[in-house]
Amino acid sequence: MSEIVDLRSDTLTRPTAAMRRAMADAEVGDDVYGEDPTVREIEERVAELFGHQAALFTPTGSMANVLAVRTVAGVGQEVLCEARAHIARAELGAHAAYTGITMRTWSHPTGGIDLPAVKELFAPDMGPFFVPTAAIAVENTHNFAGGTVLPIEDLIALRQYADSTGARIHLDGARIWNAHVATGVALADYGRTADVMAVCLSKGLGAPIGSLVVGDQDAIDESRIWRKRMGGGMRQVGVLAAAGLHALEHHVERLADDHAHARLLAEAVGVDPAAVATNIVVFDHPDAAGFVAAAGESGVRISAVGPRAVRLVTHLDVTTEDAQRAAAVLLRLAAG
Ligand SMILES: Cc1ncc(COP(=O)(O)O)c(C=O)c1O
Repeated sequence: MSEIVDLRSDTLTRPTAAMRRAMADAEVGDDVYGEDPTVREIEERVAELFGHQAALFTPTGSMANVLAVRTVAGVGQEVLCEARAHIARAELGAHAAYTGITMRTWSHPTGGIDLPAVKELFAPDMGPFFVPTAAIAVENTHNFAGGTVLPIEDLIALRQYADSTGARIHLDGARIWNAHVATGVALADYGRTADVMAVCLSKGLGAPIGSLVVGDQDAIDESRIWRKRMGGGMRQVGVLAAAGLHALEHHVERLADDHAHARLLAEAVGVDPAAVATNIVVFDHPDAAGFVAAAGESGVRISAVGPRAVRLVTHLDVTTEDAQRAAAVLLRLAAG
């Protein structure tokens, strides 16, 4: 049990000893030449998991999102997404800056898909006065909505709508592994609802770095060119891909522990544990910054994600004892 319980994000994990050994032992080559066998292995493995043709290793989820979205929408077109989507709120305008797209949003209390709202917004071709909608982006699990899972039925309904209109679908699956473990829905079933995806190894899976774009061969070929153009061509990064392969092998099923810890913490801050689907708890507090500061003084690090919104995230480096200790602190603060 560590002194401080750090619940700010699941990106804070440090590689385990076994992961570090896997990294040290990785076979490597120059990946810009396509000669890193470990990178190739993770790209093939992840593409297969989601039932897609190909995948591309990237340093960050944000880069994977930018590359993926640009395969489904181009300059002067728009992408529809939920108002708190990471692509809209937390990528610093990258999709506008690099790809030249705009976004319009619908709002959903749990970050879900509001199909009637999507239909209302959708405008593929309304003449030369309107921005044409090219794609719809969804986020599963949804970070700022509190780690919520998109029901597979809603994703299938969106897929059917998209097929009927010619819209493309991007899935920000930074935490798709958490959705899979929480619901038992196969990764390939999530994969088949999207044209292109971004998935992260550096969140709940505990790798120090690494994300992938997943899609058909054309999308991945195009993404490889754009990754290089953006300065993201990497050399002997099999050492990083090895961490991801280790994580896929050993850190997926254990996400259930993080989900149980999140429910325990939810109870302490007055959130119905049944409403917590995965490893993130977001709750209202009249003074989010004050609550976060008070928790920090008591050894529990959490974050404000809005003036009245507080977020807790459980992860690989939070033990059951850590979660219990943090819950006791938060219970005291929430009561007082
Ligand atoms: C849903 C979601 N998508 C994408 C990202 C971006 O990942 P990265 O921080 O690796 O750029 C994050 C980061 O937390 C995220 O929560």
